[in-house]
Order: sequence, then structure tokens, then C-alpha cells
Amino acid sequence: MNIYILAIESSCDETSASVIYNGKILNNIIATQSIHQKYGGVVPELASRAHLQHVIPVVDEALQNAKVDKKQLSAIAFTQGPGLLGALLVGTSFAKSLASALGIPLIAVNHMKAHILAHFIDEPHPGFPFLCLTVSGGHTQVVKVKNHNEMEILGQTIDDAVGEAFDKSAKLLGLPYPGGPLIDKYAKKGDPNAFEFPETAVPGLNFSFSGIKTAILYFLRDKVKGNPNFIEDNINDICASIQKTLIDMLMGKLKRAARETGIREIAVAGGVSANSGLRKRLHTEADKHGWNIYIPDFQYCTDNAGMIAIAAHYQYLAKEFVNSEITPEPRLKLEG
Ligand code: KG4
Ligand code: ZN
Repeated sequence: MNIYILAIESSCDETSASVIYNGKILNNIIATQSIHQKYGGVVPELASRAHLQHVIPVVDEALQNAKVDKKQLSAIAFTQGPGLLGALLVGTSFAKSLASALGIPLIAVNHMKAHILAHFIDEPHPGFPFLCLTVSGGHTQVVKVKNHNEMEILGQTIDDAVGEAFDKSAKLLGLPYPGGPLIDKYAKKGDPNAFEFPETAVPGLNFSFSGIKTAILYFLRDKVKGNPNFIEDNINDICASIQKTLIDMLMGKLKRAARETGIREIAVAGGVSANSGLRKRLHTEADKHGWNIYIPDFQYCTDNAGMIAIAAHYQYLAKEFVNSEITPEPRLKLEG
């Protein structure tokens, strides 16, 4: 059987298209929207406009690069949510129109599920059941993955996502958006024990990241009073200390989930899994606890259509299609 699927991702600030053939990703074209940098965060309306500008060139590039004609496509997939409504509407409308024009099935993909299924793009794949720490700009979850379609959230953030904590901390340091990768960069040269920030205690496997942002705000305000150049002089140590605190909070819950479930197949997904400190710590904990760890290739960590394509491939096999009345769901849940 020849299954060619075109997948489109437009949930936030990356317009992306990917072609997958029989479960093998042929390409993963991503247009990043730099317009948000000067505003210090994603501006929803600007994101929608940029998706509208980029969607056709990105899809054309994916098809040309894969040497696939539209008529060969078996289905069109798109991100249904979670994400920004206006941004999702662009990908949804585009996918619907193309599927309708070509007379082929339409597949609606859950963005968070897709982050997790990115583990099935390259070998080795985690064995079921596995735990996935899903860490992005909008979500922080520990998920028990039972199979390609069944997932259970064991714990999640009750306020900010960890990516948001990285980005908001970076903003307090005067760094441009998205600040997560910059904190990672400076942290590499700093001492993670230079400064101490309090971790917020939350019961069970849930997380909370809003307190640390406030703690950093007051810490910086006090230090800058004494030395106006405090941030500049200590940027590496500040970033290393913030990063360590956030990673400690993530790893504390992940270790607890592994202990409580007895699962030692451990995966990480979402934009923050690109963080070098988190990757390093996962290796250390894996050695200590006998875990097998799975970290997706860098290009499949942050938002991309490759992950939408692999999720769509499994949905195609399960004949999970939607009709043309489907609408985006900005707050789509992983379960149910
Ligand atoms: O999954 P993603 O691309 O988009 C969402 O679905 O949210 O995640 C984006 C988030 C941003 O908060 C960004 O700062 C963070 O991932 N991120 C990082 C790194 N690379 C991306 N955070 C820390 N270190 C990194 N290297
Ligand atoms: Zn994402």
C-alpha cells in the first residue's frame, strides 16, 4: 500500500508542512515567524497573518521537495489544537479545502499527542507503556502512553508551563523572545549553584511554575538596586541557576511518576526537550535508575509538521478521519 500524507502545523508561531510516505518522514519544512521577537511574545493576530502568508509556499516546498504530486496524496492532516484559535483556523481551513478539492480523507491531529508520537519518527522507539514528560511553551505534563492512541495524563501544571517559565524569566533578564534557548546558551557557561530560587511544592504529580517567576522578579529587583549592572555581570550564573531550578522541578515529578508506576521507559517531548541541561540530567538519572530514555531529534522537539504527520499516519491506519464540518479546538485535551 502507498500511503502519502501531507501534514500541516499552524498552532502557534511556526508554519510547517511535512510529507510522510508509509510512516517514513520525507521532509519537515518549517517557517519560523520572527515578527514576535520585538513584542517579547507571540502576538496571536500577527501569528494568524503570518500563517496565511506562509502556508502555501511551505506546502508547495514540502510537496516539491518530496517529489510528490498532490494527486498522489492519500490524506491531508492538520493540527486541530491545542493552540491559538486564529492560527489553527489557517491550517484547518487550508487542509479542509485541499482535502475537499482532491476528494481525499481529512485527519485532525492533537498537537500534544503529536509531540509524544514524534518518538516514532526515528529508531529506537520507546516500548509501551512509557512515561513521557511533555514540556512546551503551553504545556507541562507527565503522560502515561499506553499505545499510539491511548494516553493518560498523570500530572500537569496548575498554572504556567515550564517553557513559559523559561521565556518569562528570560524577559525579566531583558532577553528577546523566545528566551528559553538563550537561557540554555548562557547556562552552559554558568554555575547552577550560584543563586538559589525556591521551588513551589505541589501535591502529587502536578507542577506549578508561576511562583518561580515572581521569586526571580524580586531577586533581580533587589540585586539591581545594589548593582545596576548585576544582570550583565552575572548573566551566565543567573541563567544556570534558573535552569537548574526548573529542571529540578521537572525531574522531581518525573522520578516520582517512574517510582509510582514502575515504568522505566522514559521519554521527553515538546520544545523544552531541546534544552541541553534537561537532556544531560535525563542521562544522569537514567544511569542512576536504570531507565531507557528517549529524546527526539532536535528538529522534532519544537513545533513541526513531522510530528503531525507521524500521528496522522497512525490515525490513517486506524481510519480515524473527520468530515468537513470539523473546527479547531484551541483547548483540545489529550484524553477524551
Ligand atoms: O513545543 P514548542 O515549540 O511550542 C509549543 O507548543 O509551546 O515549545 C516552545 C517552548 C518555548 O517556551 C521555548 O522557549 C522553549 O520551548 N524552548 C526551550 C529551548 N528550546 C525551546 N527552552 C529551554 N531550552 C531550550 N533549548
Ligand atoms: Zn508544541
